[in-house]
Amino acid sequence: MAPLHENLKQGGEPPLNILSGDAAHLPEIADRTVDLVCMDPPYYNNVQYAELSDYFYVWQKRTLKDLYPDLFTRRLTDKQKEAVANPARDGSAKEAKAAYERLMGEIFAECRRTLKDDGLLTLMFTHKSQTAWESFIQSLIDSGWIITSSFPVSSEFSSSTHQLDMASAASSIFLSCRKRLGEPEAPATWTGLGGGGVQHQVRRAVEAGLEEFAPLKLNPVDRMVACYGRALRVLSENWPVLDGDDPVSPIRAMNEASRVVAERQVREITAGRLSVDDLDPETAMALTLFGIWGLIEFPFHEALNLSKSLNIQMENKSGGYRPAGHLIGVNRETGGGRARRKPGDPLSESAGYPAPLLSKGSRLRLARPEERSENRLANPQTDWDILQGTIQEYRRGDLPLARAYLERHAPDHRRKILDLLKVWAAEADDPDLKKEGESILFGFNL
Ligand SMILES: C[S@@+](CC[C@H](N)C(=O)[O-])C[C@H]1O[C@@H](n2cnc3c(N)ncnc32)[C@H](O)[C@@H]1O
Repeated sequence: MAPLHENLKQGGEPPLNILSGDAAHLPEIADRTVDLVCMDPPYYNNVQYAELSDYFYVWQKRTLKDLYPDLFTRRLTDKQKEAVANPARDGSAKEAKAAYERLMGEIFAECRRTLKDDGLLTLMFTHKSQTAWESFIQSLIDSGWIITSSFPVSSEFSSSTHQLDMASAASSIFLSCRKRLGEPEAPATWTGLGGGGVQHQVRRAVEAGLEEFAPLKLNPVDRMVACYGRALRVLSENWPVLDGDDPVSPIRAMNEASRVVAERQVREITAGRLSVDDLDPETAMALTLFGIWGLIEFPFHEALNLSKSLNIQMENKSGGYRPAGHLIGVNRETGGGRARRKPGDPLSESAGYPAPLLSKGSRLRLARPEERSENRLANPQTDWDILQGTIQEYRRGDLPLARAYLERHAPDHRRKILDLLKVWAAEADDPDLKKEGESILFGFNL
């Protein structure tokens, strides 16, 4: 084919046709004529494109209206058809969510009308909040689509400063979808006897996915995202799905996927010696987070998904709390008084974080052993406390102190703590922490 400009110069038909307008209304395109829809939709409330465009629109109208009269018929840009969640336009956050779902639903319906029955729809979505994800996936499935796969795309430069040392570089998710054909079925059930429910199917699909992804050596975050695709496929194929009288949301299926991944991960990183169910909730959550992100920061909503899947609540806690029930404590990270100590530095009674998880804005990270409250590690409440207490004692007085600490606090489950230490040493990104963990294990003849 001749290059576009040559083609046009010779008076030929342009090999492509660019239409500008509302994606929810494409009268120029006949039913079932399109092979592929590739969409980069607005991400909920991330950017208010129309509002931002007004500044340029009013000036461009003065300079370009003669050339493009059809584009400049309005006083300002059209806000009403814009598929974004905009509380200023819609009146409240709740109304904005409903408007986004409705507008995206209309666009997805128009894609469905124009796409051939064997055509493909691909979308990308940068998930900043769970609400955004929920709305997007919900309107996609409601509009008659089956999500067939999902995979992560590195859409932000990993060198940009706000991404440094953070696990969010792979923050966009690519989804591929097919039309759900045929008559709508009666609602499927989430739980069913003998492995018949959709929940079991989701678990099996994610387990099969994990086998399939193994040779790809995906990092844990990417592996989790790929597993969401498996879960969403099962859910959207069986749509609608009920648990009792309540509809099962896409997020619930994704949480089930997280649970399967977390279970597998704990089995893998402990070489089968421990399972999620062997661990107290705070330790199970801390270990799973450590396996995915190590000690670097990660987005709050990622941890929230995981915590829901493990049925463990993240709760803000002050000093001296006892982690009764299914929870993991979170402390707000502060700069001054609780700043990081060097190994072996003395620590005042009040300094240090009692909780293993630290929050800063919308990000979380696991506390290092030297950041934990000395009081808390002297009176450990969980196996994660004992693990970090053992490391601190080793720093203070080498193996004899570490051994005595373990005797005191884990007389009947020393082995389990050493299994946790093995994971700590194997998964630590910091070479000093790794070396230190290995030295302790060596001292215990492991
Ligand atoms: C994530 S951006 C896509 C950016 C694009 N990939 C690029 O590189 O320029 C989403 C786009 O969807 C547009 N948009 C919002 N509502 C729309 C609608 N109803 N119909 C068509 N486009 C719409 C926004 O104006 C914005 O340009």
